[in-house]
Amino acid sequence: MTKKKLSRIDIQQMRERKERLPWITAYDYWTARFAEEAGMDMILVGDSLGMCIYGYEGTVPVTMEQCICHSEAVRRGAPNTFIIGDMPFLSYQVSVEEAVRNAGRFFKEARVDALKLEGGRRVCRQIRAIVDAGMPVMGHIGLTPQSSGQLGGFKAQGRTAEAAMELIEDARAIQEAGAFSLLVEAIPQEVCRIIHDDLKIPVYGIGAGGEADGQVMVCSDILGIFQTFTPKFVKKYENLGEKTLKVFTQYAKEVRNGEFPEEKHTYKMVEGELAKLETLLK
Ligand code: KIV
Repeated sequence: MTKKKLSRIDIQQMRERKERLPWITAYDYWTARFAEEAGMDMILVGDSLGMCIYGYEGTVPVTMEQCICHSEAVRRGAPNTFIIGDMPFLSYQVSVEEAVRNAGRFFKEARVDALKLEGGRRVCRQIRAIVDAGMPVMGHIGLTPQSSGQLGGFKAQGRTAEAAMELIEDARAIQEAGAFSLLVEAIPQEVCRIIHDDLKIPVYGIGAGGEADGQVMVCSDILGIFQTFTPKFVKKYENLGEKTLKVFTQYAKEVRNGEFPEEKHTYKMVEGELAKLETLLK
């Protein structure tokens, strides 16, 4: 049976029914296919593709072109899943006009269902304008990797009362600006709970405890492919990194010692044609 794609309204109703949504990042066709088949409620084409696909140190170098290109592939793999495009660094900070234009590119070229923007009160004008142009927006506060330089690294946020209060004000402003949901990253569980209870829109977590309306994880983290570092909040469900290395090593060994390819991997000429060819070669 073909899966029914969720709408923004379904997602709001799921919060009201206290249903928790599992979602995940994907950057390519195959991962998106598996995510849809596994029944993920949403897929984020995260700018974490900078680290997971391109090997950058962070998300800052990621471009609109890269995000659009990967979102197109993900859409082809998951035609019936609610897909969120992650707006990369400097695609929305410079002006409200640029933010709306770049959000529109995601919609028109990659057919995503929503956009995600990092930042609190400082991006609320952009959120309002994108929503007014007819596109659903998810906010993202806490550890916001695009501004990790300003935050002093990839560190948990909101651990003091004052810092938590800033996050709560940001969350309120994002809801007020018309966002349909909010992602909170790497913040204490207690602060996530307060934000969740304070807002009416769904609040999702990554590294924010188990009390949110759902969880997102980076696919390369839970598959055990991303080897550079593992944040505290990641659970590795598999070690595909180790398995991939094993496969590549075995393949290289078999090519070197002539074990691969075997007879069953080999094409044959039509019967009698080899003899004819040998005559032609004389
Ligand atoms: O880009 C990303 O992967 C994210 C995570 C917080 C899920 O934004």
